Amino acid sequence: MSAIRAIRAVRGMNDILPDVIGAWHHVERNARDLLAAYGYEEIRPPMVERTELFRRSIGEVTDIVEKEMYTFDDRNSESLTLRPECTASVVRAAVEHGLLRTPGRRMWAMGPMFRYERPQKGRYRQFHQIDVEIFGVAAPSAEAELIVLTRRLWRALGINGLTLELNSLGSPDIQARYRARLVDHFSAHSSALDADSQRRIRTNPLRILDSKNPAMQGLIEEAPRIVEELDADARAHFDELLAMLDEAGVPYRLNHRLVRGLDYYTGTVFEWTTDALGAQGAVCGGGRYDNLVAEIGGAATPAIGFAIGLERLVALLEVQSVELPVVAPHAYLASAGTRAAILAHAVAERLRDAVPDLRLVVDAGSGSFKAKLKRADRCGARIALLLGEEEARVGQMAVKDLRSREPQSVVAIDELAGLVARSMGAG
Ligand code: HAM
Repeated sequence: MSAIRAIRAVRGMNDILPDVIGAWHHVERNARDLLAAYGYEEIRPPMVERTELFRRSIGEVTDIVEKEMYTFDDRNSESLTLRPECTASVVRAAVEHGLLRTPGRRMWAMGPMFRYERPQKGRYRQFHQIDVEIFGVAAPSAEAELIVLTRRLWRALGINGLTLELNSLGSPDIQARYRARLVDHFSAHSSALDADSQRRIRTNPLRILDSKNPAMQGLIEEAPRIVEELDADARAHFDELLAMLDEAGVPYRLNHRLVRGLDYYTGTVFEWTTDALGAQGAVCGGGRYDNLVAEIGGAATPAIGFAIGLERLVALLEVQSVELPVVAPHAYLASAGTRAAILAHAVAERLRDAVPDLRLVVDAGSGSFKAKLKRADRCGARIALLLGEEEARVGQMAVKDLRSREPQSVVAIDELAGLVARSMGAG
């Protein structure tokens, strides 16, 4: 008889297991608190949108739209796509529900995104982002706010060593002029280009700047730089941002090769990067996209945002051995025998009523008290509450401090709440 084959997860889509969930909570809790403190409102768009939304916003000739989207026809033959990113959805929702009538609206969203990329360390087919957007602010103060906010988040999380990389892509006109110059440059040396870049000359020449191919680095270094194309307004905007960052003490690195993989950007772009994670070093990326709201059908509204990749941030916590807050149970209650088992949940509920913020686990396994004590110890509880048949009969409970060598004591069940509350204060 052959064994039934176990079903495994889809390639590139990870289970986030209980042993790492503490790191995820640490990130999510800090981000939530910080975003609320800066005046950002949470929004939760659906994970599935009409395919047209992403084609129009991210751009037809981007890697994402050309080859990475999970697109399918629903039963009504409508083409739908699992969101590869969240900005388009947030903009669509904001326009649809008239949220942008209030200028200076700040919003954030969190959840899974889907891209059919080749999975490797730090790059997955389902991954999670915290996506943050500001609408209606044309001035560089919006850029500065997003950057100081992320810096504060890294500090709150205990992460260090991230580098802020900045560039300005300018308006679509500037990008078009720059694209023409790049095409000239790369066409003149087309025999030195790899196949991917040959194709990109025609489709998306800016992306050639992103190439990691060592053989092409010299040619890329010699390429014209977009700063040379910026007009006076774009230059002044970027300079003002740099002055704000200098004033706020945020170091940055100007990276003229930073072009990003989405077509909607119209000005400043930035990434926070690390070299501690190997090839996938961008932990956070974003930029200004002043035309997208109008392109999706809303009134012209300047906008800017970023998204943090949570898998990479969590990996960084691990690499940097950041100490995470421990949320072990305060107490672990175990019973043995039928009468005691009947009483156990009632006693536990009375305790939970009486002691605010109590984290109490009721043992659910079988075995001896010794085995139960082992489980109590393993889950990190400070005290074990033991209810045997005799204790149940006389209304008492044995209490063992798992973090000291003191012998266990016996207390009346009625006095348990006070004792448990005191033990919580004992650290
Ligand atoms: P993005 O650069 O495509 O930008 O993604 C942002 C971050 O998501 C990346 O820096 C990275 O940390 C993470 N990420 C992207 N793809 C993967 C993957 N396959 N596996 C793991 N992590 C990944 C955006 O998505 C824009 N929507 C950001 C934005 C918001 N721009 C303006 N507003």
